[in-house]
Amino acid sequence: MSQFPHIEYPIRIPYLLRVYFTEGAFDIGNPLFRDLACSRESGNRRKVLVYVDEAVNLATPDLGASVSRYFDHYGEELRLMGFETLKGGEALKNDASCLDRIYGDIERLKICRHSYVVGIGGGALLDVVGFAAATAHRGIRHFRFPTTTLGQADAGVGVKNGVNFNRKKNFVGAFAPPFAVINDFSFLDTLPDTHLRNGYIEAIKVALIRDASFFEWIEANTDALSNFERDTLRELIHRCADHHVAHIATSGDPFEMGSVRPLDFGHWAAHKLEQLSEFALSHGEAVAIGIAIDTLYSEEMGHLDSESSERILKLLKSLQFEVYSVHLEKRNGSRFPCVLEGLEEFREHLGGLLTITLLKRIGSRFEVHEMDTEVVLKAIDRLKELN
Ligand SMILES: NC(=O)c1ccc[n+]([C@@H]2O[C@H](COP(=O)([O-])OP(=O)(O)OC[C@H]3O[C@@H](n4cnc5c(N)ncnc54)[C@H](O)[C@@H]3O)[C@@H](O)[C@H]2O)c1
Ligand SMILES: [Zn+2]
Repeated sequence: MSQFPHIEYPIRIPYLLRVYFTEGAFDIGNPLFRDLACSRESGNRRKVLVYVDEAVNLATPDLGASVSRYFDHYGEELRLMGFETLKGGEALKNDASCLDRIYGDIERLKICRHSYVVGIGGGALLDVVGFAAATAHRGIRHFRFPTTTLGQADAGVGVKNGVNFNRKKNFVGAFAPPFAVINDFSFLDTLPDTHLRNGYIEAIKVALIRDASFFEWIEANTDALSNFERDTLRELIHRCADHHVAHIATSGDPFEMGSVRPLDFGHWAAHKLEQLSEFALSHGEAVAIGIAIDTLYSEEMGHLDSESSERILKLLKSLQFEVYSVHLEKRNGSRFPCVLEGLEEFREHLGGLLTITLLKRIGSRFEVHEMDTEVVLKAIDRLKELN
C-alpha cells in the first residue's frame, strides 16, 4: 500500500491498569477513592454517578448511607450525582433496556466526559456499567468496585466490557480500561458460598496456563479455600488478579486484535453452556466444565500426561466444582450436541481463525486451530462417567 500517497502517524495512548486492595472503601477514614478520583491526572473531575448491584445493596443496608456520608465528607472535591441500583447477575447483560436506562441517567444528570461512572457489583454489573460508560459521550472514565471473588480476581480487573445480544455472550462490547479498580474485600462478607467459590475457577485457569507453582499453592490450600478462610481467599484473589493484569499489560495484545486468547482457556464450551442452560449455570460453574473438557481433550490428543489431567480433575472436584452438566447433552436434531456450536461461535467472536488454548503441562499452554469433534465428544463422555 505504501506506493499510494498517504498520511500516517502512529497514535500511542498510554493506559495505566491499576488495581488497589482495601477494606471499607467508603469509610470516611479511607481516602483511597478520593485520592484516585482527585489525583493530578484526573483533570479536575468532580461529578460521580454510582451504580450498585441490587444484591450488594440489600446485603449491605447501610451502603447508600455510607456512600452519601463519604461524598458529604469530601464535598469540596467530589459531588455524588446519583446512587442507582441495578438488578445484577447475567440477566442484566441479557437485558438491552438497561443500557437505555444508564444512558438516560447520564443525559439527565449531565454526566460529562469530565465526570466518573462507578460500578459496584458482580462481574455482570461491571460489564454493563463499564460498557455504558465506555460508549456514552464516546467514553466516560469509570471506576470498578468488584464485589465477587470472580470479579476481584478476573472479571473486574481487565479491560473488557460488554453485554449479551440474542443471548450470545459479550456479543456487544468495548475495550475500555477502567480509570482504576478498587478491590474492597469487605464486600465479600455478604457473598454466598457458591459465588465465593466461583472465583476459584479463574485462579485455577490462570495457574494452568501460566504458573505451576500457583496451581500447587491452590492444591495445598484446598481445605482453607473450601472453608473460605479470609487470608487464603485474599491471597488467591491478589495472585489471580496480578496474573490477569500482567497478561493484559505484557502479552502485546491488550485489546485482543489477534486470535490468541489464553485467558479464555476452557471458555469456548463455557460460554455456550451458560447459554444452553438459559444462564442457570453461572459463569464460574460453566468454566469449570469447560476447563475439564479441554483438559481431557489435551490428554486424549497426547499433549498432557494422564497424571496431570487427574490432578486437575481432582482439584476441581475437591473444590466442589461439577465437571459435567446435562446441558452437554442438548441436541438440536443433529447427531452432535449443541455445545459444539460453541467452537464456531468462538471462531466468529475471534474473527476468523479458530484458536483454542490447550495444555501441555500444568502451567504451560499452547494453541491449536482446530478441534477434533470426535475427541471432544470422547472427553465429554469421560466426564459423564466420572460424574
Ligand atoms: N469483562 C471481563 O473481562 C470478564 C471476565 C470474566 C467474566 N466476565 C463476566 O462476569 C460475569 C460473572 O461475574 P460474577 O461471577 O461476579 O457473577 P455476577 O455478576 O452474576 O454475580 C453473581 C451474583 O451475586 C450477586 N452479588 C454480587 N456481589 C455480591 C455481594 N457482595 N453480596 C451478595 N451478593 C452479591 C449478584 O447480584 C449476582 O446475583 C459473567 O457475565 C462473565 O461473562 C467478564
Ligand atoms: Zn471467565
